[in-house]
This record gives sequence, structure tokens and C-alpha cells, in this order.
Amino acid sequence: MLAAGLLFACAMLAACNPEQSALHPAGQDAAELANLFWFMTAGGALVWCIIMGSAIYAVLGSKRPRSERFADRFVFIGGVAFPTVGLAGLLIFGLALLPNWAEADTPDLQVQVVAEQFWWRLGYEAADGSQVATANEIHLPVGATAEFVLTSTDVIHSFWIPSLGGKMDAIPGRTNVLRLTPTKPGVYRGVCAEFCGPSHALMAFPVVVHEADAYAEWLETQRQPATAGNGEAFIAAGCGACHVVRGISEAGSVGPDLTHFASRRTIGAGTMLLTPANLADWLVAPSHIKPGSRMPSFATLPDAERQAIVDFLLELK
Ligand code: CUA
Repeated sequence: MLAAGLLFACAMLAACNPEQSALHPAGQDAAELANLFWFMTAGGALVWCIIMGSAIYAVLGSKRPRSERFADRFVFIGGVAFPTVGLAGLLIFGLALLPNWAEADTPDLQVQVVAEQFWWRLGYEAADGSQVATANEIHLPVGATAEFVLTSTDVIHSFWIPSLGGKMDAIPGRTNVLRLTPTKPGVYRGVCAEFCGPSHALMAFPVVVHEADAYAEWLETQRQPATAGNGEAFIAAGCGACHVVRGISEAGSVGPDLTHFASRRTIGAGTMLLTPANLADWLVAPSHIKPGSRMPSFATLPDAERQAIVDFLLELK
């Protein structure tokens, strides 16, 4: 039965999506946490085997009486010495994993993260020192330590990229800091890890870890204003009241910055893949697709106007 259980557990673990798995580490912290997990699992399995072995021995073992000395020793070793040594070992192992930022160098880059119901407002610093606003998709250079400066505007959220490391709460009126160092280029998935409302489970974000050059190129593209042509339909429908598209409409601040919207992989903070059909659906029924979303429906717009907005947004590379 034990073997069957282990087999089942292995099958379950193997089926986990490596894009969002603390057991497929792609970052320094995640690797240490995965080691801790396997160390604790092995330790727990060992203790379980010893306890079950003792129980089986007590029931089925020889019936001849034991000396009092044997009983005392058994209780002392099994009940005092073993737990003390075992738990102290685990404590030392765990304490060694605590981040030691005082000694760490300054981070290689900083990302401002504001959690909102239910999306992520992001700010990067460009090479020329200017701030670059973006949303819902994080890009990082491999091997560099990124410092996430986290806060929230409404309720408590939690920022978690399982493949890269541990999680950190985003709390209104407070700034928390989390540092992560990705070690493998790839696309991972981050999530909100604190229940924050009806679309808590739809508050995700792709995390793209690049080689340094590709990251610099991405950041430079994001720094540029939009180059798309015709924003008329977007402005006429009032989208600019909530969304910034730098170079075209800069007044809105309620919703995600859309300046390079078409460069992103998903719509609605990881809710759907960014495809023309999904984007058209999103404009018709955002609160159906994402309950609690503050994005209004544009179902009453004539089809041609809605399509013009879709076409415009898809040009925002
Ligand atoms: Cu934001 Cu859960």
C-alpha cells in the first residue's frame, strides 16, 4: 500500500505544470525551498517508518518480558533524545535558508509592484533612469537579483512566482520587499496567493526570464511610446479614461497601462491568452469572464467600432 501511495504521489507531482511549480526550481530561492521540501519529506518518511516499525514490533514482536532498564532507555531515546536531535537539526537547516539581505549586494534591478483587484501594476527603471509603466507581465534578466517593491491599493494580495522563490504579501499602506534571482531562462507563471475577492484565482501573470541582452531590448521597447496608428475608436469609446497608451492617451490611471499591450501574452492578468477572438470577447463581457473586474462592458458599441478598438490594441506591440 505504501508503494502504491508513493507511486500515486510521484504521478501527481510529475503531472504538475513546471511553469508554476516550486518543485521545478528556476531560481536560487526556489532551489533552496525545493531542497528543504525533499529533506523534510525524506525526514518525515523516515520518522513515519520508525514509528510504524515500533508499533508493528510492539504488536507482533516477542512476548517475553522486557527489563525495566530497557523500557526506560527506549522511552528516553525514542521520546527525548531522538526528537531533540531531529528537531534541532531541522531548525538549523531551516534557519540557514533565511534570506540574509544585509550582506547581499544591492539588487541588480528594482520592479515596483502594486497589486490591485485583480491585476498587477508594474514599474521598471529604464537605462536612462526614467520610469516605465507596464502591467500583468514580468520580464527579468537571468542571473540578476531583482528586488520587487510590493504594495496594494485595496486589500491584501500576495505575490508569488513558485518557480523562482517564496511569496510576499502586498499590503495597503505598507511596502514589502522580495528579492528573487532567476537561474534559468524561460516562461513561468506567477499568481496572487492570498484570497482577495471573486477573481483572486484570475490574478496571475506570465514571468519571462531572458538573457541579459534580450531583457535590455524588451525594456527599451517598453520605454518607447506607442507607435500604433489610429487610436480614434479607443478614445471615442472612452477607454482612455482608465487606460494609458503613452503617446496617444495619457490621462487614465484606473486600469492597466496598455502602451505595449500586444507584446503581452495574456488578457486580464493571465485570465486568457491574448488572441483577437479572446480580446473581442473580453470587450463584450469582461465581468462575465472575470467577476469583480472594474472593466466595463462594451457590448453596446457597434461591432465595427469594437473591432476598430481590437485592431488598435493588437497594433500596440
Ligand atoms: Cu489578489 Cu488574490
